[in-house]
Amino acid sequence: MAISDVEKTMINDLLSPVASYYTEKIKEFGPQPRGVDWNGVDGQVLRFTQLSRLLDVERPFSLADIGCGYGALLDFLTERYRDFQYIGLDIAEAMIEAAGKLHENKPQARFISGTEPPEVIDFAVASGIFNVRLSGSDEDWRSYILQTLERMHQFSTRGFAFNCLTSYSDADRMRSDLYYADPCEFFDLCKRKFSRNVALLHDYGLYEFTIIVRK
Ligand SMILES: C[S@@+](CC[C@H](N)C(=O)[O-])C[C@H]1O[C@@H](n2cnc3c(N)ncnc32)[C@H](O)[C@@H]1O
Repeated sequence: MAISDVEKTMINDLLSPVASYYTEKIKEFGPQPRGVDWNGVDGQVLRFTQLSRLLDVERPFSLADIGCGYGALLDFLTERYRDFQYIGLDIAEAMIEAAGKLHENKPQARFISGTEPPEVIDFAVASGIFNVRLSGSDEDWRSYILQTLERMHQFSTRGFAFNCLTSYSDADRMRSDLYYADPCEFFDLCKRKFSRNVALLHDYGLYEFTIIVRK
């Protein structure tokens, strides 16, 4: 399903303040978890551990990291997998610059500004791109998530995975600038639209869930 011009404009309007938000973070804190607005390295790695359940250790693969930040996932993968090609994409130019500098000696990796890889790829993962919505409405943000998942499905041949903050978070700790998704709704949607093989992981101690769509 192609994205209409109206939807493209809506997504650009939503993402432009998000790009500025993350640009400020990386400028303030540099290439470390707080520079991509995570509290610390433990949570960041715990998220990567969930998302990487998508991957197949036995075969070489290519992977697009949508919202790569400074490319922390690349280090995680390098420690665990031998044969893979990596493309990191981010809407914040400052992230792409930081990632490029940090990983300049890794020939299997490229970093590109934007939201999609230039070619079809085996796997796509997105860690943290659906959380900060700033002043975007619930309706627009939900529709942006659906469009993004549709695109991830289209450009990945072997599967994709993503995480979201959960609507099962404690009400008194929820913030109006963040989006809390209903895990059951997204599990159902992925199962009906994308593949029979879908996992919902909601057992790793953070106020969020991960969905793995294996094709
Ligand atoms: C919470 S940070 C996580 C960075 C990285 N995935 C990590 O876990 O270390 C989210 C990043 O995604 C980027 N981003 C947000 N929405 C995006 C989108 N639709 N496409 C590409 N990048 C996006 C932001 O600029 C930011 O760098």
